[in-house]
Amino acid sequence: MKVLVHSSAELAQQSVCDVLTARILAHPASVIGLATGGTMEAVYDKLILSITRKAVPVRELLTFNLDEYWGLAPNHPASYRSYMNARLFDPAGIPRERTFLPVADAVEPDAESEAYEQRIREAGGIDLQLLGIGQNGHIGFNEPTSSLASRTRLKTLTESTRKANRQYFGDDEETPKYAITMGIGTILDARECLLLATGESKAEAVSRMIEGPLGAHCPASALQLHPKATVVLDADAASELKLREYYQHVHPDGIDRQPTHG
Ligand code: F6R
Repeated sequence: MKVLVHSSAELAQQSVCDVLTARILAHPASVIGLATGGTMEAVYDKLILSITRKAVPVRELLTFNLDEYWGLAPNHPASYRSYMNARLFDPAGIPRERTFLPVADAVEPDAESEAYEQRIREAGGIDLQLLGIGQNGHIGFNEPTSSLASRTRLKTLTESTRKANRQYFGDDEETPKYAITMGIGTILDARECLLLATGESKAEAVSRMIEGPLGAHCPASALQLHPKATVVLDADAASELKLREYYQHVHPDGIDRQPTHG
């Protein structure tokens, strides 16, 4: 696992944006896995600027998002479809028909989950999967105790996840209890994973992911199994890492000068 520690959240977000930009410039027909949430907002703002300024070709991309709340219509303002259209796809000029999220107002979650896996397979698999991490160590909505081999399916959200996402829903609305999410096995199938975590609230989950035992109690620890996983952090998110000095020695200032993984 490659651990890149930046001195600020701004630099960490910019470095993720730079990886995405370089990847799309080099391979305009890439299949990119995307995440939502507060962490990605600044990344997408920067990516839109970068795409516009550098005339990055985006019309051949295919994208697959990690997850969607179950039961929300795609046009619900708090759906991840609405988030992605508003924060990235429309302003960056990525054709909506080339972007996929689980359809979470489908009638049958198992059939939709299998269809989502099938769509990813037909696209040739995901080249680069972008990830955030929950305070409880989830990736996608794979909550603690998710099988490390899990595939796309309906998951019950924990109360802590519902609380963290409460802010996106109106006073008279209930935060969804379920989501369709790619499984951990689905995420591990991506040819490359890129996880961004910023802020002190993520420090404990980050240390469990990178330095803790591999296990379903911290779903993100499954990335220890991935041959090409990069974790980009700001100083606050890295603050509980025991081997922080080592990571900084290998990649001073979070700059990835060594094209190696391990
Ligand atoms: C979002 C997702 C989640 C978030 C995680 C962190 O598509 O899959 O795993 O990445 O909950 O969310 P924020 O960035 O809001 O702290």
